Amino acid sequence: QELKFNLEQIEKGGYDHFMLKEIYEQPHAIKDTYRGRLLAKDGIIRMAGVENHKEKFLNANRIIIVACGTSWHAGLVAEYIFEDIARIPVEVEYASEFRYRNPVITNKDVVIAISQSGETADTLAAIKLAKQHGAFVFGVCNVVGSSIARETDAGAYTHAGPEIGVASTKAFTTQITVLTLIALKLAKEKGAISNSDFHYHLEQLELIPDKVSKALESDTHIKAVAETYKDATNCLYLGRGYNFPVALEGALKLKEISYIHAEGYPAAEMKHGPIALIDEQMPVFVIATKMGHYEKVVSNIQEIKSRKGKIIAIVTEGDTDVKKLADHTIEVPETLESLSPLLTTIPLQLLSYHIAVMLNKNVDQPRNLAKSVTVE
Ligand code: G6P
Repeated sequence: QELKFNLEQIEKGGYDHFMLKEIYEQPHAIKDTYRGRLLAKDGIIRMAGVENHKEKFLNANRIIIVACGTSWHAGLVAEYIFEDIARIPVEVEYASEFRYRNPVITNKDVVIAISQSGETADTLAAIKLAKQHGAFVFGVCNVVGSSIARETDAGAYTHAGPEIGVASTKAFTTQITVLTLIALKLAKEKGAISNSDFHYHLEQLELIPDKVSKALESDTHIKAVAETYKDATNCLYLGRGYNFPVALEGALKLKEISYIHAEGYPAAEMKHGPIALIDEQMPVFVIATKMGHYEKVVSNIQEIKSRKGKIIAIVTEGDTDVKKLADHTIEVPETLESLSPLLTTIPLQLLSYHIAVMLNKNVDQPRNLAKSVTVE
């Protein structure tokens, strides 16, 4: 028993929990994901799995992304990237819905299955269905040699290293990294992106690990914010564009490990329902970074403020406008809008982590949840 305890301590590498360790591993994990693939100086993205099946991707009618949980959120971010940068139509599906609703799939479709464990039963079944209909299936997995990695026609690993905490953290950011690389590579092949824009994206992506480290430096401040809101019973998470899926993921993280009810919403959709919930008891976490939809989000923040909601905003370093309105702001470094989810996710992970620890919850193994769901 004691030996087991000590081994676990060693595995946690000095952190109190695997989740915290994995949050802090992200700068490194993202680098591991793009190592050997992103050659910024040469202006090349090297990915054999995409390269060898280029025609499939370039001639595809559309890409269908299937996944569950956090991986589904990474799929939503990918939808923005693929459509915005590579101009390929994308649909993102919960694997569990896709497999049972007699979907229209043809041999002109490319299906991308995203799964950390590579063992999620619904995702595996969705892949099998897609293959039966002749679609080309590409996997984005973390666990090498997993069932999904083996079942797919081709794929790209995230190389995030083992993720032990049930609540997914580094798997999410590394999935986004892989999907960004694929989207950029296809955009280049298609001629959907200019050479200079392509180069600029590569340079900016290479800067992300250091910026994630910078975002992690707000940890003490985030812990103080967590202390203020740890007793909330409901929370709302809002974001727009690329950061709408981040709002969903922020809410999921809080639910999973602290058991506080939280909902993620597109900021503008708030007025069609959730706004009715806002009063002085309601913490609203808003992603309000400078890149993309800034003014629109600021006006959403004003709507929350006039209903006395508590505003915690994730902002770009040096922001002044939102600071005047929000109760708390948490800064992240500036980057391209398309890469911003890799940064805005970080404070939301830390917030959930600290709240769960303060509430004495089992952070690494939350009740009723499993790391990989191999039954439907
Ligand atoms: C479970 C885990 C989540 C994960 C989801 C999908 O619900 O608790 O963290 O996002 O499964 O798992 P996968 O391994 O397919 O990414």
